[in-house]
This record gives sequence, C-alpha cells and structure tokens, in this order.
Amino acid sequence: MINDIKNLRSEIENSLHSVKDAIELEQFRLKHLVQKGTLRALTDRLREVPKEEKPHVGKQLNELRQFVEAEYHKLREVYETAKEERNALDLTLPGRTLPKGSLHPIRQTIDRMTDIFIRMGFEVAEGPDIEDDYHNFEALNFAPDHPARDMQDTFFIEHKDKVLLRTHTSPVQVRLMKSMKPPIRAVMPGRVYRNESITARALAEFHQMEGLYINKNVSFAELKGTVIAFAQQMYGHDINYRFRASYFPFTEPSAEMDITCFLCKGKGCRVCKYSGWLEVVGCGMVHPNVLTECGIDPEEYSGYAFGFGIERVAMLLHGIDDARMLYENDVRMLRQL
Ligand code: PHE
Repeated sequence: MINDIKNLRSEIENSLHSVKDAIELEQFRLKHLVQKGTLRALTDRLREVPKEEKPHVGKQLNELRQFVEAEYHKLREVYETAKEERNALDLTLPGRTLPKGSLHPIRQTIDRMTDIFIRMGFEVAEGPDIEDDYHNFEALNFAPDHPARDMQDTFFIEHKDKVLLRTHTSPVQVRLMKSMKPPIRAVMPGRVYRNESITARALAEFHQMEGLYINKNVSFAELKGTVIAFAQQMYGHDINYRFRASYFPFTEPSAEMDITCFLCKGKGCRVCKYSGWLEVVGCGMVHPNVLTECGIDPEEYSGYAFGFGIERVAMLLHGIDDARMLYENDVRMLRQL
C-alpha cells in the first residue's frame, strides 16, 4: 500500500510537470481528484489495511492529497489569470493617443517671417551669439563713447578683450558684407542679449531678424516697399502703419515702422504706452562708413537694412500682451498657439 502511494505520487508529479494549459489541467483533475479518481480509489483501499498500520498509511494518503490539491490550485491560479488577462484585452477599444508636441511660438514666428522673405528673394544667414566689440559696435559706426557700449546695456564676457553677447543681429550684416560680393539679399534671425530689467515689453534675452539688401541703386522706397509688403503678408492688407524718422549709427537716413496696437486698436493702452502704435522694425539705408569698413564702395553700391523684434511680431500676431508669457512655457498658453 505504501508503495502504491509512492507510485501514485511520482506518477502525479510527472503529469503535473507536463500540464501546459487549462485544458490539460482539467484532464489532470478528472483523472486524480474526482470521486472516481485515482486518489479516491487508493483511499478506498484503506479498509484493507491492517488496523495497526492504518494511522501511518492514512497519514501518507492525507499528505499525498494535500500535496496534489495544493499543486492543482497553484496551476489553476496561473491559468485562470492568464484567461482573465486574455479576456481583459478589448481589441475594439480605440488606442491611446500620445500628446503631440509643437514648435515654440517664437520658432513658428521665425519660420513664418523667413518664408515671407524667402518668397521676396532673400536668403537666410546666421552669425554667432558671442561677438566682439568690432562686429557688434565698431564696424557698425558706433562712436567709442556710444552709450550702448556701456556695461549697463551690454553683457560682457571678457570686458578687457571686448568679448560680449551680441546686443542686436546687425553684426551678422558686417560678417555678410565682408564675406560676400554684392548683390547681397539676406535675412538673419537670431537671439540677442541686453542687460535690461525684464518687463511686459522688454526681456534681457530676445530675438531679432535682421535684413540686408546691397546692390547698385538701392533706394529708400524699396526699403519701405519691402517692410510694408512683409507687414501686410504677416498681418493682413488692412493694417495701419506709419514710418517715423529715427537714428541708428549704422544707417542714414534711419526710420522706424509702427503698426496700430493690436490690443487697443489705436485707442491707447499699457502695451503701446498710450500711443496707439507699436514699433515693429528699425531700418534705414546702410551708412557709407559701414559699407567702406566692410570693403564695399559706397560710390558704386547702396543698400538698406532692417531689424525686426521677433517677440513683438509674435505678440502682435497672437494678441499676447506680455512678452514674458512667451517664455513661461505654460502648456495652457502654448496649446493655443
Ligand atoms: N539693430 C537695430 C536695433 O537693435 C535695429 C536695426 C537694424 C536698425 C538694421 C536699422 C537697421 O535696434
């Protein structure tokens, strides 16, 4: 009897090893664990065992039954959860959509602006953010004591070597004129830096897009026509604009173009400092001193230059009344643009 129990145990152990799925597990149960199963048959034979051996044999039988039931339940758990998991998979459910990122409003604005200028025949060029005094000021006809050269306006990296963060994109003009022969027609977007306190209108780090056209007989009328055509393509043909005389050391004559304030529609508000107008571009005819410094003969060639504040263009485009909002990276705001 003890031997039969041992044999049945090893038979069961073997068949447990070969159970591979819920169906085989059920077959195992039907063979061993039901009323007419092998275990019950063996238990029935306990009657034939002599009385004094009964406790021992009974104990062995019990152990075997406990072992088999425990193993059976373990396997059932495995196959049941597998089945549940399979049922939990609803292939008709729509997939999870991952949120899609988008370009930053400044990048979008730069792309829209360059697209317009490319269609007008401009190329795109870039220059370094870390400049020297020569390209940022000297070659652009800034007098040695010009206030913009002051530490208060300019971030210097090495003051004695005059290495600085460019305060405008105009040094790229110098680099282009020195490296190319006219005709030159390019826009130059980029980041610029000024030691200013940060307000709704001014940031210490912002973007400009420079424009330069050098050829024979370039006129101020062409400059006006170009910036007006740009503004109309950017904001629509019904915009109001005006030119004001201005001053830049590197252009003569110089002007600034204003567009009706988007917020108050010209009535006057905080954003436009109660003037009804917003300045979007500084411009002028390239100063003869600058042409000469860059190796271009001012008797033969003339040209115009302009510089847009890109944040200002983006603010006008989207009706944003605080430049700082462009850099807070609040997704609630970015999602709208
Ligand atoms: N560099 C000037 C500025 O930062 C803008 C400008 C560019 C003016 C080109 C005239 C010509 O304000």
